[in-house]
Amino acid sequence: MGFSSEWEQRYTENTHLSVWPWSDIVSLVHRHCKPIISKGGGRILELGCGAGANIPLFRALGMEYFAIEGSPTIVKQLNQRYPDLVDNIMVGDFTLEQPFECDFDLVIDRAALTHNNTASIKNALQIAFDSLKLGGIFIGSDWFSKNHDDFSGGEVSDDEFTRTNHTKGSFAGVGKVHFSNERHLRDLFTQYEIVSMEEKLMRRYEPKDNHQFASWNIVARKPFNVR
Ligand SMILES: C[S@@+](CC[C@H](N)C(=O)[O-])C[C@H]1O[C@@H](n2cnc3c(N)ncnc32)[C@H](O)[C@@H]1O
Repeated sequence: MGFSSEWEQRYTENTHLSVWPWSDIVSLVHRHCKPIISKGGGRILELGCGAGANIPLFRALGMEYFAIEGSPTIVKQLNQRYPDLVDNIMVGDFTLEQPFECDFDLVIDRAALTHNNTASIKNALQIAFDSLKLGGIFIGSDWFSKNHDDFSGGEVSDDEFTRTNHTKGSFAGVGKVHFSNERHLRDLFTQYEIVSMEEKLMRRYEPKDNHQFASWNIVARKPFNVR
């Protein structure tokens, strides 16, 4: 099982409630999904939608939106906010199952797979692959990088890329955090064609703690010639 129960606790305490679309997701979708958007419609699956920050973007684009999220508390809130999506936003563990019909044009994940260990991420990427149409696109944003300062925080959990029990910073109280490097990402995405892979590094000067944030954005395609 991939889902860290700490997330349910965060949402019952009303923390981690991001409700505005993430700017990297907006840019990546417009940069890499023109054929899907211009066709109109299209089906999108979000893995770990949290408080639903990205929902307004996909609705504005006229796409049919589906999501799997591990926290029952946040899914209940989303069901109240978007009653027409009650059958489309499900409680579940995306490293184990995908309850919807396949044939998705797009699967997106912003900082959700990266809260699981390597084995669970591999499962989730396989499920996403099987859920996509031929030529469908996977967008992963904010997969934390080994160059993130908090890679040295907390303690090792399950494998060399995964840590847990961070006591300070933004990863405190959220369970597992996975940190990738280029080689690891290429290894995880062997089945896909990698379209774009970028690492974002941000150093903080104020407050003066010199903290470095680092994460990856990756866009990958399910090849057209898979059986
Ligand atoms: C950092 S939050 C990101 C939320 C949202 N994607 C956003 O960008 O605002 C990570 C989310 O992934 C969910 N999550 C992590 N692992 C999961 C799993 N294995 N199955 C289902 N949900 C999971 C957590 O419950 C949490 O809502």
